[in-house]
Amino acid sequence: MNILIVGTGYVGTTTGVIFCEMGHRVTGLDLDDSKIQALQNGKLYFYEPGVEVLLTKHIQAQNIIFTKNTEKAIQENDVIFICVGTPKGTDGKADLTFVRNVAESIGQYMNTYKVIVTKSTVPVGTAELVTGWIASKQAGQIPFDVVSNPEFLREGSALQDALHPDRIIIGTESETAKSVMKELYQNFRCPIIETKAKVSEMIKYAANSFLAMKISFINELARVCDQLEINVNDVSKGIGLDHRIGPQFLRAGMGYGGSCFPKDVNALIQTAKENGHPLTILENVVKVNDEQPLFFIEKIKRYLDGELKNKTIAVLGLSFKADTDDTRESPSLKLIEKLAKEKAVIKAHDPVVKLDASQCRTVEETIAGADAVIICTDWEQYKQLDWKSLKPLMKAPLIFDGRNMLDPDEMKKLGFKYGGIGHF
Ligand code: UDX
Repeated sequence: MNILIVGTGYVGTTTGVIFCEMGHRVTGLDLDDSKIQALQNGKLYFYEPGVEVLLTKHIQAQNIIFTKNTEKAIQENDVIFICVGTPKGTDGKADLTFVRNVAESIGQYMNTYKVIVTKSTVPVGTAELVTGWIASKQAGQIPFDVVSNPEFLREGSALQDALHPDRIIIGTESETAKSVMKELYQNFRCPIIETKAKVSEMIKYAANSFLAMKISFINELARVCDQLEINVNDVSKGIGLDHRIGPQFLRAGMGYGGSCFPKDVNALIQTAKENGHPLTILENVVKVNDEQPLFFIEKIKRYLDGELKNKTIAVLGLSFKADTDDTRESPSLKLIEKLAKEKAVIKAHDPVVKLDASQCRTVEETIAGADAVIICTDWEQYKQLDWKSLKPLMKAPLIFDGRNMLDPDEMKKLGFKYGGIGHF
């Protein structure tokens, strides 16, 4: 099948190469020249493990091409995936400007029947809007169907998630579109749910919100655990083995960040409010998440005689989680902002993210002379550090583990004072 992917971010590009793997021909469309150039040369302009190898493979095999030519791209493809961004608008709702632009272009240029698929996370009712936007720009009446087919890819493991989805949701009432979608996904071994577009859109928001809720639950519980000197990791393990609860998304830490959870939880809260049924649970999920880095700072202050002013603090990790260069809504940045307000001297490191020239290049450089180290991102590299040989570089052997990734007993044996989140 000939597939057009509009928007070449980590979702669009990963989806594109996966469809190539499944034997389809893919065109990637983006308006940004530099992105198109990079991708056409087999180079990712973002960090996503494993994707570049497949990209190069399929460029060489001529299974995927990248273009800026909207008209030609729309006319030459049967199925069009909309994978553009839906950033948080000023009112907390998803901003659909990019989706609308794509839909209108499709209406303007389409010449034969098309299946248009929204993969971007979009509010309930968007498939209907997209239908209207396409129709409004059509000169004649060329038939088309709109399908909601949300992605569940995590940054950093997008490839694995795309290759091995837990389920595929196909939201449309058109039998023709359904059969096209099923053919597209015929090589995937997972349940396929066929439903209405608005149900599919809700499933996506509900899934992300539920996962965010698990994180806020364990983070808030960690505060009580801290008080009671209970290791929250042991509690996570104990409840996670109950298959009704499951072990995933119960890692206590500095809170969730990234391009999805913060935006999607807020968007669902807005939808619920507008429909007269506020989701108070989710409102509190957001509240706990916003407070979490501040809660951690208060704990850190207690170890530092109640003051951060003029203390040198080494921050390890800037991205919102490991294996990505994405810093959107990163708890690490919220923590840095607070440290700066309290007039701490901040030294920061990240293996991949480069924020500015003042950033340290190595962990050694970062922690040299530090009054305390704070681990903010769960990069494997930080787990593997030889803390014994790093200790003499620090002014004081104080470690705050915002991801509960080190072994507290081990660290204490090495002579560190150690504080995690509900973790001693
Ligand atoms: C998420 C969803 O998982 C994915 O299905 C959706 O398509 C996009 O949003 P992503 O934002 O890439 O993916 O990252 P994810 O691995 O889900 O983590 C989100 C945040 O939660 C990160 O900040 C992570 O550090 C945090 N997290 C996750 C925890 O604090 N504890 C956990 O147990 C799990």
